[in-house]
Amino acid sequence: MCDPGVTHTRYPVGSAVTEVHFSVGTVNDALREYYRDERRALLVADTNTAPLCTAYEGPTVVLQPGETAKQWASVSAILDSALAAGIGRDGRIIAVGGGVLCDLAAFAASIYLRGISCTLVPTTLLAMVDAAFGGKTGMNYGGLKNMVGTFYPSDMLIIVPQSLDTLSPREYQSGLAEVIKSAMLGDQDLFNFLQHAHGRVAAREMEAVRIIVERSLAVKASVVERDFTETGVRASLNLGHTFGHALESVAGFGTWTHGEAVAWGMVCALDLGVQMGMTDHGYAEAAAALIESFGFPTQAPGVAVDAVLEAMQHDKKVTSGSMRFVLQRRLGATEVVAAPLDAVIEVLNSRTA
Ligand SMILES: NC(=O)c1ccc[n+]([C@@H]2O[C@H](COP(=O)([O-])OP(=O)(O)OC[C@H]3O[C@@H](n4cnc5c(N)ncnc54)[C@H](O)[C@@H]3O)[C@@H](O)[C@H]2O)c1
Repeated sequence: MCDPGVTHTRYPVGSAVTEVHFSVGTVNDALREYYRDERRALLVADTNTAPLCTAYEGPTVVLQPGETAKQWASVSAILDSALAAGIGRDGRIIAVGGGVLCDLAAFAASIYLRGISCTLVPTTLLAMVDAAFGGKTGMNYGGLKNMVGTFYPSDMLIIVPQSLDTLSPREYQSGLAEVIKSAMLGDQDLFNFLQHAHGRVAAREMEAVRIIVERSLAVKASVVERDFTETGVRASLNLGHTFGHALESVAGFGTWTHGEAVAWGMVCALDLGVQMGMTDHGYAEAAAALIESFGFPTQAPGVAVDAVLEAMQHDKKVTSGSMRFVLQRRLGATEVVAAPLDAVIEVLNSRTA
């Protein structure tokens, strides 16, 4: 069973270090604790998260929320505000928000004055366990997701579990898919915890949130430490994403949340692994049951298999005609393998019925 563990950890990320702090109060409490009287930092929030940071008295810029704001105009607004506030090389950007906001603010921090310090205060579960950690920053460009960006780890990550109180149930559930993925990638204790403390996790009980975030971050940290720039093992973090991204684009972005699509994608990846004689049956059943237990749909009825296949051709993990997928032998044993097309089609047929 998971132990409450530490509340302050330093993780190597590339040649940098990200310090992760867990805060038991509110975002305002954390800002007061860490940045009282701060004038050399620009706070970046969006209209949904700005109400969480009213205690901050330094310069602030508030962006529009959501994926459509993940564009140059937002980065430019951050840079303009930093300039207007006289933020210098010793300055800092503090981002309070979901994955979009964290990606944008960290990107702006990485290019302003060739890079200033950056604190991320993620306020969605997905951003806490994934987007805000690992050093990938960026924005969408030319109609393509995350086309422009940098590798630039924040030096400080402040997790405030209480900030999730205002998050919609669907956004919270979406983040849970990445938590389940983390457990599948390499944490049997977290897997067991999700099974046994299901109610506490679903109810966002603060200590349960702290445990799942802490454990998920540790899994991601161990992968990122071995492969910061995604030339090898970091691809394992894409478990479920080849199927999931294709479903998201075929169904129309926003129809399925990212987490719902990834959860469906992980079930497809388990099916495909079983089909290929690679994935342990018992493990596949337990993992699919865990995914289902958190209310994720494991069927995508009516979705056109041909369209999903075509969307997967555009996925960056498809090279020279062969379909490559992140699959698992069992918990913690993950590989990128080429899969025969007929097996992929069989899985898609059964998961879209
Ligand atoms: N950099 C990475 O490694 C990485 C990894 C995974 C995902 N991402 C990126 O993360 C983004 C998705 O992030 P997301 O799922 O957090 O979505 P998001 O940032 O769009 O946030 C979802 C919504 O919740 C609102 N919100 C945020 N915190 C809230 C709170 N506490 N209470 C109420 N509302 C709140 C936001 O304003 C937004 O409307 C994508 O752009 C994706 O590319 C990046």
